[in-house]
Amino acid sequence: MATILLGVSGGIAAYKACSLLRLLKESGHDLHVIPTASALRFVGAPTWEALSGHAVRSEVWDDIPGVAHVALGNSADLVIVAPATADLLSRAAAGRADDLLTATLLTATCPILMAPAMHTEMWQHPATQANVDALRRRGVHVLDPAEGRLTGSDSGPGRLPEPEDLALAAQALLAPADLAGRRVVVTAGGTREPLDPVRFLGNRSSGRQGWALASRARDRGADVVLIAANVALPAPAGVRVVPIETTADLHRAVTEAAAEADAVVMAAAVADFRPAERAAEKIKKADGVDPAPIALVRNPDVLADLVAHRRQGQVLVGFAAETAASRERLIEWGRAKVARKGCDLLVLNDVAEGRVFGEATNEVVILSGEGQVVAEADGSKEAVADAIWDEVAKILP
Ligand code: CTP
Repeated sequence: MATILLGVSGGIAAYKACSLLRLLKESGHDLHVIPTASALRFVGAPTWEALSGHAVRSEVWDDIPGVAHVALGNSADLVIVAPATADLLSRAAAGRADDLLTATLLTATCPILMAPAMHTEMWQHPATQANVDALRRRGVHVLDPAEGRLTGSDSGPGRLPEPEDLALAAQALLAPADLAGRRVVVTAGGTREPLDPVRFLGNRSSGRQGWALASRARDRGADVVLIAANVALPAPAGVRVVPIETTADLHRAVTEAAAEADAVVMAAAVADFRPAERAAEKIKKADGVDPAPIALVRNPDVLADLVAHRRQGQVLVGFAAETAASRERLIEWGRAKVARKGCDLLVLNDVAEGRVFGEATNEVVILSGEGQVVAEADGSKEAVADAIWDEVAKILP
């Protein structure tokens, strides 16, 4: 996806930048780290090289023919400086270029995100505040530090925000704002149909693709409702999560949320059938008696119901996880399903041999409502989510 330069200056919070690096790598980005000489006293080059997969330099004097500060600055989609110390903010505000990081800040034309971290007195000092003002006036995104425990026994504003929050801020700067002002609903996970108070019929959906869809829609500016069927993942920040269990719950929740939505993406694996009876007590086995067969009844088709009641201009997206023997077969089944369901887009994936479930990656073919292949995507579930939102954004009125 994006090329990100992670500048690290010399503060104790440099260790947290390792987690930030990992989070952004897991989202599929390519990261290059530029530590200052003092950052390397806190976390050494081998750590940055192992985590990023790239060589690490601090000075403009290394790799002279490559003119690293220009090459790196020009190649980046985003520069993050975390932690940004008082000294780094001062040098950046003055436009100095006395090491590779500050020189690169002068050649970068992409967005720059800085996350200051220092003792409260240093943060509140008028010199630091003037530097932050100057940087912000120039368009640099300078985050306010978090409050809390600092290096010693002191506490107050000056902490580096948690890596998850920094990753969110970075993703928001990278994403196009093409869903700004849009309301979207995503269903995720798999519905469960209880047999008794302790047993259920369910499926293997982990909810990770739906989670990625919700997070990327948020990054692209949408107001997101995430209807979560039995998902054991932490709620994505800034997204309203509605936990549900059964297909009937999902039907109710999605019908309510869809009444206001510009787009609904049905990524959840919805149980087509439920036990005809739900025992009030745990079902007991009796010696020598064969178990009774489980009678099933049909659940409503939620997506078909959304199609029947859609708001004007609303975009409806279905998913189809199939176990097809070939790509042609997959597309053939997809065409039949999109025609039957009447949705605007159908995201097809092949889940033969347990592929996809619970994994971080996915591989999909996206069909239009007319059954044409409009996009294909593979990679992280975030990258696949972006490909889906790209198609939704194209057809939103
Ligand atoms: N879906 C739904 N309600 C159901 C079943 C499925 O809304 N009762 C949605 C799913 O969320 C998905 C799409 O419909 O977005 C296709 O799901 P799938 O199970 O592949 O469709 P079915 O019509 O049940 O087809 P199949 O007979 O292949 O299971």
